[in-house]
Amino acid sequence: MKQIRDYFRHGEKVQQLIQEQRKQRSPGRSLGAPGLNCLVLGGGGREYAIAWRLARCDSVATIDVVPGNAGVALFSRVIDFSPHDVGRLQQHLAASAIDLAIVGPDELIAEGLGDHLRRASVAVVAPSKEAAKIEWSKTFAKELMTEAHVPTPRWETFTTPEQARNALDRNKWAAPLVVKADGLAAGKGVTICRTLEEALMTLATPPTNSGRVVFEEVLEGEEASLQALVDGETVVALPPARDHKRVGDGDIGPNTGGMGASSPTTVLPDEDAQRVADELITPIARALVARGTPFRGVIFAGLIRTTSGFKVLEYNARFGDPEAQVTLPRIGGDFAKLMVALGEGRLKEYVAQNPLRLSQRAFVDVVLCAEGYPGSPRVGDRIEGLDALPDGVYGFHGATASTPTGGFITTGGRVMHIVAGGSNIAEARDRAYQGAERVTFTGKFYRSDIAGSGVAVA
Ligand code: GLY
Repeated sequence: MKQIRDYFRHGEKVQQLIQEQRKQRSPGRSLGAPGLNCLVLGGGGREYAIAWRLARCDSVATIDVVPGNAGVALFSRVIDFSPHDVGRLQQHLAASAIDLAIVGPDELIAEGLGDHLRRASVAVVAPSKEAAKIEWSKTFAKELMTEAHVPTPRWETFTTPEQARNALDRNKWAAPLVVKADGLAAGKGVTICRTLEEALMTLATPPTNSGRVVFEEVLEGEEASLQALVDGETVVALPPARDHKRVGDGDIGPNTGGMGASSPTTVLPDEDAQRVADELITPIARALVARGTPFRGVIFAGLIRTTSGFKVLEYNARFGDPEAQVTLPRIGGDFAKLMVALGEGRLKEYVAQNPLRLSQRAFVDVVLCAEGYPGSPRVGDRIEGLDALPDGVYGFHGATASTPTGGFITTGGRVMHIVAGGSNIAEARDRAYQGAERVTFTGKFYRSDIAGSGVAVA
């Protein structure tokens, strides 16, 4: 209890400091006018989606993105320095009178950028490094789930891959099983091994050939992604989504950072989201408060629906990618004000006065990838056809640069997210695929079954 009281006392002090510092460094903007200066950290499709959503808010005056990409530079100020450079970042916060900072990528959150930003008295949407441990240590997440009685597949942690191999040799674990790297692995640290040989091979290959390894039982069921805004013990569910992690149609091939997504999803309908968040995210938020490491940011729960209900496969400490691309367009009202309230520790009061409103429109994201992804993608190919996208179909840039002669080239594996809305999933999907055909670059490929099984029912 003392820790909770300290946290909230400290929170009030921080808020006062924020208000005072804003007045001093930006007198023209003090007391709420003429708008918020926002900073988005990261440079992929998720950060594009965050900036895109902020750009649609009346309360927003400016948007900076660091390091951003060539597409997001079309409507925001992209400043090309490394977000790992904390000193440079702090200068930027002061010089640009930043009011709100939202951190996208897991590695920035895991290295404690949320803590650095909060010390600069900015409203920050990113948890502390300690609270983010739910993402950067799979073992910690599993321990917390066990402590908080959150249903999760059976698991065991091994300090080294050798110990994990021993458990297989002694038939303590058998295939099929899931092998997970304990730390961050850019979406590539989870392998479902159907045979013993596959498990042994996985333990001999990065990222699971060093450091701690987690074994988990394989469960059958459909998956859903549930993101929630979390401020201490306050948990506000966002619309659920479904993503597609494997590189190939029919969910075959290696895992990727995400090949597409859709929202809403029949696996977890919007109307059930808050109840499921109360069951599967709130206990974790409470456990973190009790440990003196309250969470302030976005908790993403990767869920599987089994015959005995939902179970948690993993937690992430940030917006999902590509889930943000299909859920943020569905959030009504002034998203920037909502983010400031979260970042300042006022989420409960804010949503009591401004309940979250969701659009009933469906959104689908089809990711256009570069040949070679998720291995080494080819880069430097010219992107054509962006000006031929149908109205209301968007190209959310993921990995692009501009050329001196105008236009864009590819710079990474997940090049472009083609995001489209519709009155239902089938319509949104058709429109997203129309867009996916029109945008071209050498070596382009994409899955043809994104949002597939939702078509008939959503
Ligand atoms: N789409 C899963 C993630 O963002 O980690």
